[in-house]
Amino acid sequence: MRFAVMASGRGSNFQALIDARARGELPGAELVQLIVNKRDAQAIGRAEAAGIPWEFIDSDVMARAEFDRRALAVLRDCSTEAVVLAGFMRLLTPEFIAAFRHRILNIHPALLPLFPGAHAHRDALAAGASESGCSAHFVDDGIDTGPVILQQAIPVLPDDTEESLAARILPHEHRLLPEVVRLLAAGRLKVEGTTVWILPEK
Ligand code: GRF
Repeated sequence: MRFAVMASGRGSNFQALIDARARGELPGAELVQLIVNKRDAQAIGRAEAAGIPWEFIDSDVMARAEFDRRALAVLRDCSTEAVVLAGFMRLLTPEFIAAFRHRILNIHPALLPLFPGAHAHRDALAAGASESGCSAHFVDDGIDTGPVILQQAIPVLPDDTEESLAARILPHEHRLLPEVVRLLAAGRLKVEGTTVWILPEK
């Protein structure tokens, strides 16, 4: 399965995929392209260090539909079969999502359907949640609403801040995201409505 990553910033989840691949943990999955929408995304340096082609498409100077058209063109050029959103802080158009139906993965730092959106840690703390975590899910047209594949819960601690909670959740994101890529590449994810079944290894 040839797959591309889309990222906006730090790119630690992208790095987790690079590292998993280097350890041989993504059999049948080939990371062929990075797309970033911010020129200063740290993910670019990670791609260069790993020898992965990258493309910058400036989301600040074009409409959403135009951005998605250009991204789709890049993905088609490299024959991508799946897309992984790794800290990609931007909504995709229904046209983009339809082009990769049940082939777009996202990692979100909360236990969906709780706390979707860009401020998951803040929202979890404001709601007084006693646990939070992360979710790997397929992307649909909503904001973090697509079928959940895997989740990891962790306790929220009484003195947690947004930063401390984010820091404790992040290592779990780095484990979950390569795991769902591995499952998708192995053809082991079956989507039925809002449920994702993980099929046994053949
Ligand atoms: C992660 O917490 C991800 O879940 C969220 O944004 C953060 C991105 O981190 N959507 P990184 O760019 O992968 O380091």
